[in-house]
Amino acid sequence: CWDHVGPAPKDPINGVTEAFLADPSPSKINLGVGAYRDDKGRPVVLQCVREAEAKIAGSVFLESLSAVVNSKMIEESVKLVYGNDSDVVKEGRFAGVQALSGTGACRLFAEFQRRFHPESHIYFPDPTWSNHHNIWRDAQIRERTYHYYHHDSKGLNFAALIDDIKNAPHGSFFLLHPCAHNPTGADPTEEQWREISYQFKVKNHFPFFDMAYQGFASGDLDKDAQAIRIFLEDKHLIGCAQSYAKNMGLYGHRVGCLSILCSDSKQGAAIRSQLQQIARAMYGSPPVHGVLLVSTILSDSDLKSLWVDELKDMADRIRTMRTTLRENIEKLGSPLCWEHITNQLGMFCFSGLSPDQVDRLAREFHIYMTRDGRISMAGVTTGNVNYVANAIHEVASS
Ligand code: LMR
Repeated sequence: CWDHVGPAPKDPINGVTEAFLADPSPSKINLGVGAYRDDKGRPVVLQCVREAEAKIAGSVFLESLSAVVNSKMIEESVKLVYGNDSDVVKEGRFAGVQALSGTGACRLFAEFQRRFHPESHIYFPDPTWSNHHNIWRDAQIRERTYHYYHHDSKGLNFAALIDDIKNAPHGSFFLLHPCAHNPTGADPTEEQWREISYQFKVKNHFPFFDMAYQGFASGDLDKDAQAIRIFLEDKHLIGCAQSYAKNMGLYGHRVGCLSILCSDSKQGAAIRSQLQQIARAMYGSPPVHGVLLVSTILSDSDLKSLWVDELKDMADRIRTMRTTLRENIEKLGSPLCWEHITNQLGMFCFSGLSPDQVDRLAREFHIYMTRDGRISMAGVTTGNVNYVANAIHEVASS
């Protein structure tokens, strides 16, 4: 009955982790998956999470999710993206549901899009996070791409991006990365976001933001939400997927939020019920423990400010590693330009290394990254940055 089933192609990100794990070398380094590591290369459990764990230990809510906890988490989550004083939040002009991290939020939205706009497409930036393609494909929404990255400048191709927005059919669905673009680390400036928002208004496009790295671009939650706030000022009805995987380090807990802004609270309630029904059929309800952690941290001012400080520390460490990596490669006398390492933002550096050079790094230096040349800067540490710089210099200049 399953004779016709062959193996699925390897996932471009998880496949790197598999190759890394299979390498017996003691000096191996994983710069593949976007997961934060401390300066010793260890995964981190944030102190705010440890304290929230202690607070909720033995919680009575573990059997099924209390509506109060759930709505608290959603309310605090939407404030993080739309702002504490946002009218849409105060007036309840949104539909918000808990989701299985950012991936689950995207998946829920894609299903919702298919149900209510079955003929629509989704426009992805070129390139985008590899899993976006899988998510919308499985929801049977056809994809198109818009220009985003300029390979020569290793930054944003703004003119081509604007042309693609203008040329897309009226009312198209666009996926946007509001900060710390994955995989390129190239974000529009404030002025550029204003222009993008304006052009969306002209064409009545729908902006869907995948906010997977809030806090990781600038170290500041509000600043990283600037793109969304600009769209809000321009009165767009926005969709947003939020993840607490990276910024709270809750990777395995799968905590996220999907929100869709609506014209009034009645529409908000209708859309929320549709999203809940889609989730009910796909996986019932999301796990409880992570959401308790998030709502405990976000609704306790001491824990929240501890989180904000810890988040800034993570973003700062990555920025320091960008500077050190660039300096070390330049010190080796590389004839190539490495400015983009410090110009790009967030967890990733889109190095410009070719697939063959990436393969050489794995083969000869036991350094692993995705074949598009994306470096997860979170895997670079004071202890390995010199080795990484040498290896990159070696493969890039021969
Ligand atoms: C990444 O891009 O590496 C992260 O978003 C983790 C993942 O699951 O792909």
